[in-house]
Amino acid sequence: MKNITDLKTVRLSDDQNAVVILDQTRLPAEECYLELTSAEDIWDAIYKLKVRGAPAIGVAAAYGIYVCSRQIEAGSFDEFYTAFRRVKEYLAGSRPTAVNLVAALNRMEKVVLENASETVPALVELLHKESLAIREEDAAACRRIGEHCLSLLRPGMGILTHCNAGHLAVSEYGTALAPVYLGEERGYGFKVFADETRPLLQGARLTAYELNRAGVDVTLICDNMASSVMQKGWVQAVIVGCDRIAANGDIANKIGTSGVAILARHYGIPFYVLGPTSTIDMQCPDGKSIVIEERDPAEVTEMWYMHRMAPKDVKIFNPAFDVTPNELITAIITEKGIFNPANGGFES
Ligand code: MRU
Repeated sequence: MKNITDLKTVRLSDDQNAVVILDQTRLPAEECYLELTSAEDIWDAIYKLKVRGAPAIGVAAAYGIYVCSRQIEAGSFDEFYTAFRRVKEYLAGSRPTAVNLVAALNRMEKVVLENASETVPALVELLHKESLAIREEDAAACRRIGEHCLSLLRPGMGILTHCNAGHLAVSEYGTALAPVYLGEERGYGFKVFADETRPLLQGARLTAYELNRAGVDVTLICDNMASSVMQKGWVQAVIVGCDRIAANGDIANKIGTSGVAILARHYGIPFYVLGPTSTIDMQCPDGKSIVIEERDPAEVTEMWYMHRMAPKDVKIFNPAFDVTPNELITAIITEKGIFNPANGGFES
């Protein structure tokens, strides 16, 4: 397999004054990195999906609030914390559905609150360490998620995936694509079908790009072709990522995921959801309680076209995510094993 880890989705600059992201809105045409130095830059990059994918957003927010904390001029803990909270609330509002964003920011805030007796420079250093830990835990989780899922797959399988839950969406290897990469390293020869994923084309622009770049056998299909490839017997497993896992095992993921789950059930194909435990939100009882982001109608009507493709006055509905109910999910696979919503525990 060709190396994909040379693509650095999110990192800190060497002088730690900036969050450096691979601008995913420019892919697949160019691999272009952006340096984000202000809270506004970071908010904008998350909102505009220059950095996207639930775990990557969490890491970008953790690095981001660390970079912003370095800029706070405060003589006391209270002054520091007031400024920190302002940045935290602001960044938390950039996207509502992926729990990893708020979870990472909460973790950073906990570090501040638990060390109120420290000096401001010491607090900033603790924030640095925590942001690196969030990134490292994310990378390690992906490997373990990949291993758990791979144990359920067989060489030569056809795998269908939706959106992008690969290397570009997390720190390393991805969640849904981790078993694909690990399998590729071990000669499993999977054949991947990537849904293009309307309206923002994460499947076409990102999943097809990163798998193709790594030398994995990938075939791009339009979203409405999933049933056809399943009907032909070309798909033996569906593997997707997730943005929030509710306590009852309902999950939110990219719009269109629930439709794929319904198709998989119809054709008797296992439907696996892969995500780190940081995506589980035990405060959220079920899928109905998950806030679903709605985005700019222009993403549907004109963003990828030379000319607008719909009447000017037509109503548009553009939800970014949907909820797949737990009964359609064969297993939710985390780094700790399979999540069991009945008791909140994990089984391997
Ligand atoms: O809107 P996006 O591109 O951020 O949506 C991403 C997804 O839906 C992914 O499947 C999810 O975040 C998991 S990424 C490991």
